[in-house]
Amino acid sequence: MSGNSVPDGAHLLITGGAGFIGSQLVRDLLARRDGTRITVLDKLTYAGNRANLEAVEADVEQAARFAFVRGDIADAAAVAPLVADADAVVNVAAETHVDRSILDPEAFLRTGVIGVHVLLEAVRRETDRARAGDRASAPRLLQVSTDEVYGSVETGRSVETDALAPRSPYAAAKAAGELLVRAYQVTYGLDAVITRGSNTYGPHQHPEKLIPLFVTNALAGEQLPMYGDGMQIRDWLHVADHAAAIDFVLRNGEAGEAYNVAGGTELPNRDVIRRLLAAAGRDWSLVRTVPDRPGHDRRYAMDGSKLAALGWRPRVSFDEGLPATVAWYRDHGAWVDQARTADWDVYYARQYADRLANGRIVDDSTTGAGVESGASPHAAGVDGTR
Ligand code: NAD
Ligand code: TYD
Repeated sequence: MSGNSVPDGAHLLITGGAGFIGSQLVRDLLARRDGTRITVLDKLTYAGNRANLEAVEADVEQAARFAFVRGDIADAAAVAPLVADADAVVNVAAETHVDRSILDPEAFLRTGVIGVHVLLEAVRRETDRARAGDRASAPRLLQVSTDEVYGSVETGRSVETDALAPRSPYAAAKAAGELLVRAYQVTYGLDAVITRGSNTYGPHQHPEKLIPLFVTNALAGEQLPMYGDGMQIRDWLHVADHAAAIDFVLRNGEAGEAYNVAGGTELPNRDVIRRLLAAAGRDWSLVRTVPDRPGHDRRYAMDGSKLAALGWRPRVSFDEGLPATVAWYRDHGAWVDQARTADWDVYYARQYADRLANGRIVDDSTTGAGVESGASPHAAGVDGTR
């Protein structure tokens, strides 16, 4: 079964829609003004922020097609009626920061395993109702996953059929969620698809992650805690492209399939830091090498050819997206201050106080052998030939 079950004008349930990627998806879908209705179910953890949805709520036409429910995907009573009313469910909700998963794994399992199970049970019930003729069609479920489920990839690029080999509590919870989705698709015939996105950056990302943390610290003239030698490689994907890929797979993906969403810009952290410092008008003297993250994955790299063959590829180059992201953070100090309420000071001290006390000044003479595709960044990296 393909995505024909999700027509324009459908009613979508988007969990985690107040977060970084989820809110981009909500804003972009509603801005199309094609009649799509969206209900967001979000727990509003420290990472969720209603301000990310202000543009939608301030627009009368969009607001009329939008509803926000504060709640937990692991709460069956909250989930059941929302799934019953939806044509499709996009599960974006998760605990998402690897460092926090190392400090406190439990919330990752509650949302990533129990939460996914609760959603699956609700979708299963609605699928049975559709089979009994009690609703027009079964709801499609899209599970948003990550390249981190493949584990550290020393050489080559991961393809969708590779074994999952997660190495952090975050990645393990994401892999478990995926495996449950796959099991329900096979066993109960659910119409379910999976996306595996690469490291995502852009506006509205919580300033705990590498790029927004380093950009906001740099703009404030504060130290940048680079883990280890800074030669770990990530593949960067702009948030608008990640949201577009989720929408594309929702409509065009085959049930039971997973799709890599590769950014096409593989860079060592040192190169990312050098570029963001340049965009922020700061220099390398702010960088400190600090004790490494335990179990730190050295490299993520995915082959994006399966999704490219369906007709999707990313559009925003890192050369264009990174300076725009730096400018966004420079212009949105109030948003950053709000994101740094909740437990921020406690978390920052726990994660960085000892590390920075042991931090060392390092020169930036090590140049990474990053692969970037320049002006047409996404011609390469999507066909797996690089
Ligand atoms: P985020 O941390 O910015 O947002 C997560 C959102 O989920 C928040 O609004 C939060 O309040 C909500 N949430 C958390 N637990 C919940 C629960 N139990 N019930 C309901 N809502 C809950 O995350 P993000 O960076 O936007 O990531 C979104 C998804 O994309 C996640 O599934 C993540 O694993 C995946 N992903 C992220 C990246 C990345 O680089 N950010 C890359 C690949 C995949
Ligand atoms: P992060 O944004 O946490 O994403 P992920 O771990 O999911 O890839 O980190 C990106 C890279 O940046 C990763 O190699 C860890 C590194 N990093 C630092 O060096 N210092 C930091 O303070 C953070 C948050 C990340």
